[in-house]
Order: sequence, then C-alpha cells, then structure tokens
Amino acid sequence: MSASSPLRLGIAGLGTVGVGLLRITRKHAKLIEERVGRPVTVSAVSARNRAKDRGIELSGYDWEDDPVQLATRDDIDVYVELMGGSDGPAKASVEAAIAAGKHVVTANKALLAHHGQELAEAAETTGIVLRFEAAVAGGIPIIKALTEGLAGNEITRVMGVMNGTCNYILTRMYDGELPYEVVFDEADKLGFLEADPQLDVGGIDAGHKLSLLSAIAFGTQVDFNAVELEGIERISIRDIDQAADMGYRIKLLGVTQMTGRGLEQRMSPCLVPARSPLGQLEGGTNMVVVEGDSVGQIVMRGAGAGEGPTASAVMGDVMDIARGLTISTFGKPASALKPAKPAKATVPAAYYLRMELLDKPGALAKVASVLGEAGISINRMRQYGHEETTAPIIIVTHSCTRAAIDEALAGLGATGVVEGDPVAIRIEEV
Ligand code: HSE
Repeated sequence: MSASSPLRLGIAGLGTVGVGLLRITRKHAKLIEERVGRPVTVSAVSARNRAKDRGIELSGYDWEDDPVQLATRDDIDVYVELMGGSDGPAKASVEAAIAAGKHVVTANKALLAHHGQELAEAAETTGIVLRFEAAVAGGIPIIKALTEGLAGNEITRVMGVMNGTCNYILTRMYDGELPYEVVFDEADKLGFLEADPQLDVGGIDAGHKLSLLSAIAFGTQVDFNAVELEGIERISIRDIDQAADMGYRIKLLGVTQMTGRGLEQRMSPCLVPARSPLGQLEGGTNMVVVEGDSVGQIVMRGAGAGEGPTASAVMGDVMDIARGLTISTFGKPASALKPAKPAKATVPAAYYLRMELLDKPGALAKVASVLGEAGISINRMRQYGHEETTAPIIIVTHSCTRAAIDEALAGLGATGVVEGDPVAIRIEEV
C-alpha cells in the first residue's frame, strides 16, 4: 500500500462510537486526507442488528454479519473494534485481524485489561499496529501523551478520575444533597450506566483503564487482577458533606505508582482537596494527572465518553496508522514488558475517619487511646451536634499505614462507645 493509496477501514460495532466514527470519516474526509497525505475510507461494517435505524446512511459500505469475516477481508487495512466485551466476538475478531496482518484500533478496555499482553505480543510478531487511545478516558489523548510526548520521562505517578458516571453520581449527590440510590436511578434514566452497572459503580471499568496506563507508565505487563478495587456504592451523602466541611471532595480515584515495594494500583474512593483540579472536577468529565521526573505534573481534562470524544480518539489512532507510525502497543516492545510485581501494601497516607460516638463521659478519650495504640496521630478533629444519644466525630489523621487504620477500626468496635461501623477513607495528596 503506497502512502497515497486510501487507508481502508472495517468497523465492527455501530453503537454510539461506531456511528460517531463514520460521521467523522464523512465530515472531515478532506481535512483527514490533507493531514495524513492519503484518504481514509470505510470498506465494510458489522453490527449485531442490520435493520436498526442508527440515523446514518450505511448503504455505501459492505455489510458483514460476522466480525471475524470483516476483520480478515482483503479490502481492509485496519480493523476497528468497537463492540466491547473482554472475550467473545471482540477477542476472536481482533485475534483474526492480527493473524491476517491487519492493523487494529480498539476502544475496548476490558479486552486489553484481560488480554493486552498476549494481543500486543501477537501484534508485534505479525508486525502490525495495535492502538487503543479511545479505551482510556474517552477523548483525552492520554495514551499518546504517555507513549510519545512524555516518553522521555521517568513516570512517577499517574492518577485520574476515569469513570464519568461515578463522577456524575458523586458530584450530583453533593450538589443536590441526594442519597446514592436516588442519584443512581437518575443516572440510569439518563442512560449513563453501562449495561452492567457494576462495571461503573464497582470501579471495574475505571480499573481496566488504570491497568492499561500502568503498563505504559511503568513498562510492565498489564495486570488488572492486581488493581485494588473498591466502588462507590458505600459512599454516603453524610461522608460527602462532612468531607466537604473539612475541605475535601470524594472522588473515585485511580492511582498507579511504582514504589520500593512494587507496583501499587488502586481504584477506590479517596478524599482530594476541594481546591485541587481533581477536587473541582464536576459531572461526567474525566481527568488524568501524570507526574514525570522532567516534566513535573501534567493535568488533562475532558469528556471520558460519548460519540464525539470517543470517536475523536479512535480517529487519532487511525490517522497515526495512515501516517505510517509504528509505535508499540504499550510504548515499548511487548516482549520487553516485565511482569508487574504488585506492592503488598499501599504507601502511607492521611485518612478521614467518621464514627458515631455515644455521648458518655470518657468516650472521646477511648477513641484517642485506640488510635494512639495503633500508632495513629490525629491531625484534625471535629465533633458535630448530638443526634439523640450519639454525635458524629470526624478525624483527619496524620500519615499512617492502612494496616494501622485496620487495627484502629477493629479496636474502635471493641470500645463500646462507637455505634455502628466507623468509616475510613484515604486522603490522596494530589
Ligand atoms: N462508562 C464509562 C464512564 C465510559 O462512565 O466513564 C466507558 O468506559
């Protein structure tokens, strides 16, 4: 294929993103050709339901019922996989495309989180390009930033809010003074939730994304199973309010960093300072923060989902291929990626603690003594008005280990002065 011959796509999956990609190929055909020096065309498409009205004319493209057939057609150069799912047709068709020597562009985070290493190795063996910008943080070009613009840095930490639905739920709870269940139903009605909502609110979707960023940032094999995952289902409006009162916001925050004890990957609710860029992130938006030894801190913010932003990311990958760029999937040869050694414990941090304290003489002294015995020093403390027999107590600790917090939580239960389970949420330095 010469530089000026068209780059021909086969697109599998005509949901929001697939339709968005078709729209860009039409709307910007001239701009794309001018930028990459050759036309980008679509030869054929595939989706589950041919009859469905997608609001876009499909008669100019061949139709394939079977994505594997599409992936191996002679008249495509790039197979674009936009179906989703970690296995099944997505995996089978991507494998078939690679075996047939087709370049692959995918938005499928689950596929790469579970099979990224083997697919990257297969791509390398066959000599094709496998790219996935749209899989992480939608329209934010974070993969390109890490693999190219920031490639000369030792990356020290990558953090981010990478699930817009969770950020919508948490900010809406705060703004509307609404409980989780009400906002969850609202998000459902607005069509924000994945078909399996647990992917969103359980932190799995964001955890998939984080595991892909870890591989690029630290040159390790994708290890989704080592991501410490906690969703947002147990975050109460009370914690959101009281954290706000102490100057924090609660976010479903992903953090990946290489520590002396191994690779730490966490996707969990954290408190971040309300005035930080992450703290100010509202609604369904995503934000990724990268820290590199030369560059310092970079903050990228934008839409993490939706037709235009996600299709924009897919088209960026397609245009790189049209230009002849041949970068490795995870920024370094797949065969050189080392198995990640997961950190056994998270780095120490300050924690937010909330408990309902019985209104009895000496109750606070008992709490302070349990914390002291666990080696935890109190930084700030606030007691709110009594509610019948108890009063909410909020404590912000100095930096301590998670093990110390767990020891204190167990000890608090045994004091006889704390009603119900105390809440502990990590405070991330951002
Ligand atoms: N469900 C995701 C989100 C988008 O809410 O951000 C796809 O990963």
